[in-house]
Amino acid sequence: MNIVVTGGAGFIGSNFVYYLLAHHPEDRVICLDKLTYAASMEALDDAMRDERFRFVRGDIADTDAVERLFAEEKPDIVVNFAAETHVDRSIDDPGVFVRTNIMGTQTLLDACRKHGVRRFHQVSTDEVYGDLPLDRPDLFFTEETPLHTSSPYSASKAGADLLALAYARTFGLPVSITRCSNNYGPYQFPEKLIPLMISRALADESMPVYGKGENVRDWLYVEDHCAAVDAVMRMGRPGEVYNVGGHNERTNLSVVRTILQELRKPESLIAFVTDRPGHDRRYAIDPAKISAELGWLPATPFEEGIRRTIRWYVDNRGWWSRILSGDYRAYYEKMYAHR
Ligand code: NAD
Ligand code: DAU
Repeated sequence: MNIVVTGGAGFIGSNFVYYLLAHHPEDRVICLDKLTYAASMEALDDAMRDERFRFVRGDIADTDAVERLFAEEKPDIVVNFAAETHVDRSIDDPGVFVRTNIMGTQTLLDACRKHGVRRFHQVSTDEVYGDLPLDRPDLFFTEETPLHTSSPYSASKAGADLLALAYARTFGLPVSITRCSNNYGPYQFPEKLIPLMISRALADESMPVYGKGENVRDWLYVEDHCAAVDAVMRMGRPGEVYNVGGHNERTNLSVVRTILQELRKPESLIAFVTDRPGHDRRYAIDPAKISAELGWLPATPFEEGIRRTIRWYVDNRGWWSRILSGDYRAYYEKMYAHR
């Protein structure tokens, strides 16, 4: 099969490219990526040496570029990872989130209709459900939980999900959606909690925890997410949504403390800073549907995944140091100056 992976130079997309190349030797993988600040061509170095892989630089919201690619490659499956993904950036500047996450998805959906693509898979997020209270550990997001977004990021992802489902119902397009919890692992851009905290701890710099650090996220190792997307896009029922998560809830403070312990750094590095506006309290996924229908279960316990991830950031200091010494430094100074 020919599989177009959009956003394949980003964190999860690049891990997914390797997942496909390793698990499906019969498939060709074509990555379409605009190469925004969040992309890393270095992450695709090994893939570029594989003759089953092709990289194309392009914008998912550019109708002509998408049309050219689809006409050339005649994809069987299109899996859409491409997005603006950082909540804090969406609070600072929502426009690009609407353009890429909503209009880009619509452009891909139209191209899929035109070219008779056999499956369009939308990689979505648990953030479309909003948040859960901290004092109700019995509550989880199911696929029936109403959409109730908090940030411009999550609103744009919910908009994309609704468009994809509308194309399924109105045009009969074979669409599927996964809504996953927080990922961690190699090649995550160091603006997100875990790589930010690892890189700052390694440099003995203060670690900015929003509010009191009580917010809860449900962490999943990136390879487990890749396995879930692969299963749903091949075997999931068209028109359906599948939640993906591994019942691994932790407060932000406990994640930060785990990182400090693993790196043998002092707790005095923790700095409590002004909270994120509209900060979602707790995410927690009920993965019963994907487990029952497709037999998916997470394979990597958090203790193992976080150790592997920390080791990766220690061993690949050059990768994130180059990022931190470039444009990202100006972003960090702007975002955290008044916190
Ligand atoms: P990322 O920010 O690391 O990478 C996004 C990639 O998309 C980058 O390579 C970027 O260049 C590319 N891109 C951005 N705009 C584009 C455009 N207009 N056209 C083409 N390419 C474009 O993102 P990530 O964390 O790997 O997330 C990937 C997907 O998974 C996103 O759709 C996100 O909403 C979803 N998701 C992420 C998480 C998480 O914890 N990171 C959890 C659940 C769902
Ligand atoms: O749940 C899935 C979502 O997870 C994805 O859809 C998003 O693309 C991804 O960015 C992530 O969103 P979060 O907002 O949960 O991730 P982030 O790493 O930005 O923050 C995780 C938690 O840590 C959150 O409660 C905010 C907090 N935080 C974050 C940063 C960057 C801090 O306390 N300090 C920080 O400096």
